[in-house]
Amino acid sequence: MQKISNQPLALLNQLTPEAFLAEYWQKKPLLIRQAIPQFEGLLTPDELAGLACEDEVQSRLVQFIKGQWQVTQGPMTEKTFKRLPEKDWTLLVQGVNHFLPEATDLLSQFSFIPHARLDDLMVSYAPDGGGVGPHLDSYDVFLLQGSGKRHWKISQQTDFTLVENAPLRILQNFETEQEWVLEAGDMLYLPPQIAHWGVAVGDDCMTYSIGFRAPKTQELAHEFLHYLQDQSTLTGIYADADLTLQTHPAEISTAMVEKVYQSFKAITWGTQHVGDFLGRYLTEPKPHIVFEPPKKMSLKIFGQRLQQRIIYLDLASQMLFWQDTFYLNGEALAVPNTLTTEMKILADTRQLDGSSLEADQLGTLAALLHPHYLAGYLMLEEA
Ligand code: SIN
Ligand code: CO
Repeated sequence: MQKISNQPLALLNQLTPEAFLAEYWQKKPLLIRQAIPQFEGLLTPDELAGLACEDEVQSRLVQFIKGQWQVTQGPMTEKTFKRLPEKDWTLLVQGVNHFLPEATDLLSQFSFIPHARLDDLMVSYAPDGGGVGPHLDSYDVFLLQGSGKRHWKISQQTDFTLVENAPLRILQNFETEQEWVLEAGDMLYLPPQIAHWGVAVGDDCMTYSIGFRAPKTQELAHEFLHYLQDQSTLTGIYADADLTLQTHPAEISTAMVEKVYQSFKAITWGTQHVGDFLGRYLTEPKPHIVFEPPKKMSLKIFGQRLQQRIIYLDLASQMLFWQDTFYLNGEALAVPNTLTTEMKILADTRQLDGSSLEADQLGTLAALLHPHYLAGYLMLEEA
């Protein structure tokens, strides 16, 4: 089974993942020269522009024109790109990992951070001078330089005043504390709330942002309360055979409040509910994600193919587990004990070699995964 190793990594400046987590994660920035030696990127500027023209891809174009910030939301068109000036703009494409198979290997290098924390891979392209201005992000990010160079400035300032009426959150008074020029393969790790400003130096600057989401407590609680509402089925009906005469007919009596309060005590929740909620919530595909179902395949044929092939999670699929329950794209899977090891491999590595399965496991796994395969959540490929 895949285990996360604690060996020192070039990706982390020769720190072990444990040392990185203890000293830097969510605490302080870290510059890593040649984190991925020879890294020049996973796609060309034209391929990125092509993605930005697709309906199901989220993209933004940020321009700085005559002292004013401008943001255009995608999908882009060829015309959008033809009209652009030579300098001072940047194209940002979210969720590139959902469309580019090569991104899976890149993201797997960051598996020392739990998948539950991963948001997505964003890729930006900018000609000379392009950038999104000085700002703060509420999540952790590894800013990996692909082609070209980017000049990064960072600051631990506490002045969060924003430029008024700008279409994106730009800090009004950015004070540089540290700065570096990053080249292909260099990487900057930033915890949340560190002010930063990256500007392309020369053309064809592509930056890969590996972002880790940090949901707001209020947002989590809001979603959890929805979950709890769906889970609780309270029985009974309000009854007051003991009603006594009230002086004010308009008054809500303390007796009524007490009765309702007591009936609400049947709403109970604990860590089991929270774990189950997180499994569903964190694997729920973002609203714009669409899965393409494959050609119909019977369970029998699926089982036969599974035996000879590797089953992969679709690029947009998200799979996590909590204790022995597995979650795939917002749904809980009832997995028998005989398959938990295999399902953990699928969840951890996004793939499982069907030929490694025992004969009696195959049928059960095929039955378990077949509906999800038909929904487009999984793919079968030759080994
Ligand atoms: C960029 O890639 O241009 C922006 C990344 C960031 O500042 O978060
Ligand atoms: Co940022």
